[in-house]
Amino acid sequence: MATSDGSDLTGAVRYVLGETGAIGATVRQIASRLDDRPDRVAEVLDTLRSRGDVLRMGRGLFVLRDFERLSERDDFVDPAAFVERFERENGLALGRYAGPITFRSNEAIPVHRWWPYVQGYSAEFVAGVLAAADLRRGATVLDPFAGSGTTLVEGRRAGIRAIGTELLAPAVLAARVKTNFELDPRALVRGADRVLKRAERRSAGALPFLRETRRQFAPKALRDLTRLRDALPSEGGPLSDALRLAFGRILIPSSRLHRSPCLGYGKRIPSGDPVTPFERFGAAAHEMAADLEGLSAERSHWGPPAEVTLRDARNGGWSPRSVELAITSPPYVNGMDYVMNYKVDLAWLGYAHSYADLAALRGAQVACDNLPRRETAPYLDTSRVAEPWLAEILPRIRENLARKGTYRRDDMHAVVHRYFSDLSPVLDGVFRALVPGGRFVVVVGDSLLAGAYVPGDLLLARLGASLGFRIVSVEVARRRRSGQRRSFELRESIVTLERPKAAR
Ligand SMILES: C[S@@+](CC[C@H](N)C(=O)[O-])C[C@H]1O[C@@H](n2cnc3c(N)ncnc32)[C@H](O)[C@@H]1O
Repeated sequence: MATSDGSDLTGAVRYVLGETGAIGATVRQIASRLDDRPDRVAEVLDTLRSRGDVLRMGRGLFVLRDFERLSERDDFVDPAAFVERFERENGLALGRYAGPITFRSNEAIPVHRWWPYVQGYSAEFVAGVLAAADLRRGATVLDPFAGSGTTLVEGRRAGIRAIGTELLAPAVLAARVKTNFELDPRALVRGADRVLKRAERRSAGALPFLRETRRQFAPKALRDLTRLRDALPSEGGPLSDALRLAFGRILIPSSRLHRSPCLGYGKRIPSGDPVTPFERFGAAAHEMAADLEGLSAERSHWGPPAEVTLRDARNGGWSPRSVELAITSPPYVNGMDYVMNYKVDLAWLGYAHSYADLAALRGAQVACDNLPRRETAPYLDTSRVAEPWLAEILPRIRENLARKGTYRRDDMHAVVHRYFSDLSPVLDGVFRALVPGGRFVVVVGDSLLAGAYVPGDLLLARLGASLGFRIVSVEVARRRRSGQRRSFELRESIVTLERPKAAR
């Protein structure tokens, strides 16, 4: 549909926005749909915005005014309707949790600060769950999506055996190092000094395979990072792991990138930045050593060494009835692409050697919306979905996509379908691993996808119930904003499930 003069174009833009409805469209999408120039479309949108006919939502997404308030549309089932239905069908009202839940508070806490993992949850939250469970010494806590090991560190500190699985190798490294409380702080400082001395003598080394490496770092920082990396000890072992973590931790701070929470460009590096990678590495090792010194005062309380395994949680392989408590936070529906966000760490630490390695890892992770189509193809057919809410929501997403025609991907319903299919074996595995009466505490969020609301927390609770769990509570821990449209409020909840005493 090529358009000619301004008034034709205004009508055409309105038409496309009407078609895309609640999902909205970007300038580029509208222009490509109309086969017209983006600058002309942007001009028309400016005029429509100044008249109040069109609104800009989130990052560059435009919608017609009458699609602004999703909750007023007939075809939109809003969060309140699902909450009310959950009360009716599952007999539970949502509660509230008042403590800190995000990782931010960990950034100042010894040990947890060794590898700031934006996607993690707070140590205080985990400590509270552990205290409330009042486990006997020697009991086991499990985290199937262990991330950087927040659960495992707090479990061990509380005298409990802590085990976990995780697929992202840099996170496994962080969790292993952070739970190795026995590491000698003086040996760590001496080891870091040796690395720095060796690095001083080295010339710059090879760059990792990522195409954008030169854009990610200033030239001098890039050279220094390759020298440091090549000076790390090549043998394995706890000290070597700790030094690798200290190196991994300085990658993003030494780059032009930031995580907020997704990896993106935008940090300004002042010319003459005094903090070089060498200085950062030394400071990271000293901080770790100081935290280890502090930790040793609690030595008599420590639980046995934690076990964190690089493993797919869908095949967790945990022994039946061996776990008293499980605590976790899985990826959120359509949430983060962990591989994309940690590709720098994966490449520099030598865990991925090619884009094929990254793609294979992404395919094994719980589904995110960056999955290649071949990974979602088996989930396009949603006709056999047993969970009644999901059986309604998935076709709603598909219909919205069909109406819009130009959404980022036309198989979003398949991504969501696969997401819940990925979570199901993990819930089942944890159920079997728990002792009767054991609890599974899960921090998870809801989502707004392609103009449809997906109550990820309530769906997870219901999925758990279908596998035999009793839903103990769903507590809202935090309100957050949708990435798709900032005005739409989402939540983050703590879902507590219990394996009933008289369980299968
Ligand atoms: C929200 S984060 C967990 C953060 C953790 N609670 C912490 O405080 O560090 C979710 C984690 O699940 C991991 N993950 C995704 N799919 C997985 C799978 N199939 N098996 C194991 N881990 C997986 C991701 O790599 C990510 O680290």
